[in-house]
Amino acid sequence: MTHALPKITAHFAITADAKISTKNRTPSLFTSPTDKSRLRTVRAAHDAILAGRGTVAADTMSMRLTDETLRRERLSRGLPPEPLRVVVSNAGRLDPAWKIFQPGGSTAVILSTTRMPQRTRSALAPLCDLHLFDAPSVPLVPALRMLRTDYGVKRIVCEGGGELVRSLAELDLISSIQLTIAPIIFGGAAAPTLTGIPGDFLPRPLDFKIKSTTIIDGECVLHLTRSPR
Ligand SMILES: NC(=O)c1ccc[n+]([C@@H]2O[C@H](COP(=O)([O-])OP(=O)(O)OC[C@H]3O[C@@H](n4cnc5c(N)ncnc54)[C@H](OP(=O)(O)O)[C@@H]3O)[C@@H](O)[C@H]2O)c1
Repeated sequence: MTHALPKITAHFAITADAKISTKNRTPSLFTSPTDKSRLRTVRAAHDAILAGRGTVAADTMSMRLTDETLRRERLSRGLPPEPLRVVVSNAGRLDPAWKIFQPGGSTAVILSTTRMPQRTRSALAPLCDLHLFDAPSVPLVPALRMLRTDYGVKRIVCEGGGELVRSLAELDLISSIQLTIAPIIFGGAAAPTLTGIPGDFLPRPLDFKIKSTTIIDGECVLHLTRSPR
């Protein structure tokens, strides 16, 4: 039986002029503590968290869910306490010292290619599940299908960054988008947006429907779902 692909929600903080990064590409600290807390509840509602190598490096992410209440609530639903942590990288230059490779937390799953240097492979092998595709770039559709068949992942929250979202959008793999729109503008002609550093148009526009808008702690939380194709 062929399993369906997991459903992907892109979850981002964004400025009123649609930027996702500060000038110095520092972690997304421009939304409120309330929003950070809401992010944890979104994480808890998914089977896996997905991020690109750039985001994990820039934001020094552990991708963990440490909130005891949320962990207990997941366990009561028969789920593991934390969602699976998935990182994609074509070149595979990942640092074994990153927080995501520290002890504790769910399995870290690395989707990369045989371009990963041998030394990195040896260092990472005991710290995570390494899936190296024999291709110049990670074939996203088979990789996502593997997450479903091998790990039972049905719902993924993609927490960045723009380059990864762009490649998911090119393949029309995004089911929903949740944005926290912060009342701030950054400017910056080359500042990354939801689909990365401004460049070419997508092969075709993707239509979404507005499912809800909520004002929470002075920020607008916008939930979009992909329109039927
Ligand atoms: N506001 C927010 O909510 C938010 C969320 C996330 C990130 N950010 C910000 O965004 C910035 C990072 O952006 P970014 O565009 O560099 O992030 P990114 O998409 O996380 O990282 C780009 C890297 O990820 C890997 N990658 C991306 N798409 C891939 C694919 N389809 N297959 C395989 N590997 C893929 C590649 O790694 P290799 O080079 O290793 O091949 C690529 O160079 C940071 O400043 C971060 O703070 C903001």
